[in-house]
Amino acid sequence: MSGILIRGARLVDARTDARGSLLAEDGRIVAVLAGADGEASILSLARDPASVETVDARGAVLMPSFIDLHAHFRDPGFTHKEDLESGSRAAAAGGFGTLVLMANTDPVCSDQAAAERNRARVAEIGLVDAFQAVSLTRDFDGRDTSALAELDPAVVPVASEDGREVASARVMLEAMERCAQAGVLVSCHCEDPELALAAKPHREAALRALALRGDNRFGALAGSADFEPVRASLDAAERLLRLAENTMTERNLALAAAAACPTHIAHVSTREAVEAIRRTRARLPGLVSCEVTPHHLALTSLVPAIVNPPLRSEDDRQALIAGLLDGTIDAIATDHAPHTAEDKASGAPGFSGLETAFAVCHSVLVKTGRMDLRRLSALMSENPARILGLARGALSPGLDADFVLVDPDAEWTVEPMDGKRWLSRGRNTPFVGERLTGLVLATYKRGRLVHSRPLS
Ligand code: DOR
Repeated sequence: MSGILIRGARLVDARTDARGSLLAEDGRIVAVLAGADGEASILSLARDPASVETVDARGAVLMPSFIDLHAHFRDPGFTHKEDLESGSRAAAAGGFGTLVLMANTDPVCSDQAAAERNRARVAEIGLVDAFQAVSLTRDFDGRDTSALAELDPAVVPVASEDGREVASARVMLEAMERCAQAGVLVSCHCEDPELALAAKPHREAALRALALRGDNRFGALAGSADFEPVRASLDAAERLLRLAENTMTERNLALAAAAACPTHIAHVSTREAVEAIRRTRARLPGLVSCEVTPHHLALTSLVPAIVNPPLRSEDDRQALIAGLLDGTIDAIATDHAPHTAEDKASGAPGFSGLETAFAVCHSVLVKTGRMDLRRLSALMSENPARILGLARGALSPGLDADFVLVDPDAEWTVEPMDGKRWLSRGRNTPFVGERLTGLVLATYKRGRLVHSRPLS
């Protein structure tokens, strides 16, 4: 079969919300027609109608595949946590068609040749497309930015020191100048490394105190006298980690302006950082873009789960949602960060997020009435495509046939990640036990089914 006709779905992208049908042939979208008339006539637009497979999608929503600006696949070096194949499977299961992979592998992905190897291998696996980011400094040495001058943005659209920011402002300025010259976007992990390090013992002390009491939520303790020592550690960590993000965000915004470097602020998590980005965007339109993660949108620091940047307060969470609604924050990115159980137990930061992202965002943003599904599609598909300069992320003729079928009303409970459902090799999610609404039923890559949900 070289063609596929999705018939009778609710078609949703950033600009459309209508019942209709979509025809794809040879990997590209040929036609998108709304209404019953379209359903009857669309097949006549096929070059080879006899080879078109029809999928009756009544009751489902058809959306462009999601585009993740920020994921960690751990390949090479930590493939026991995730390799390119397991990461691709998890991404397809989560409805993602395109991803940007961070460079904190071993060896660090520090030049175009290494990035090209990962891009090509993911293409060979054939489930998703991945652009491998390169680090801003060679092997994260904090000094040598020379490899940036060699980058071709069609192969490496993003460079980032994600995991730990470049400490020296002078080196960061040089990196941004080189990336601006090459036409490569700089994605910033805005956390001052020294402030973040100083917070670590306080964060660990709070978690130890909680574990000793056999609790799994700080919220269960809040208000009791027992909570006071835990609160002191939490407050000390929170003060330092807030400063770490806020000062580094301000620094990077100033450097981006000085270097005239298109800059993307990754996983923003504080109210002050959102405000700083809002001010810069008003002053320098087009210079800065920004993403937020599903976990920062859904959870607060009452959940004792380790991630960088950390889960914040309810006030910060509301500021993030307001930032999405007023356009300060363009995109939702997973920061998928798989780890082994042992590494998590010894404090490794991050969660496997690809397979829960759509449901978490749908539950927190759409189900609650904060936005409609078109807006969510803009945040998960159209805007990330625009940030990467890709013609993707919409249901439009001529684009690659990368789309998902979802059931937005399906409710499910997140199981512990030792069940069969999960495809990421990382088994850690802070959403275990949460009841979510929204399910990815099927994912298509260039018109080919690359994931469909098992029936049970
Ligand atoms: O929680 C995180 N984990 N944040 C990061 O920035 C890096 C990531 C990782 O690589 O584990």
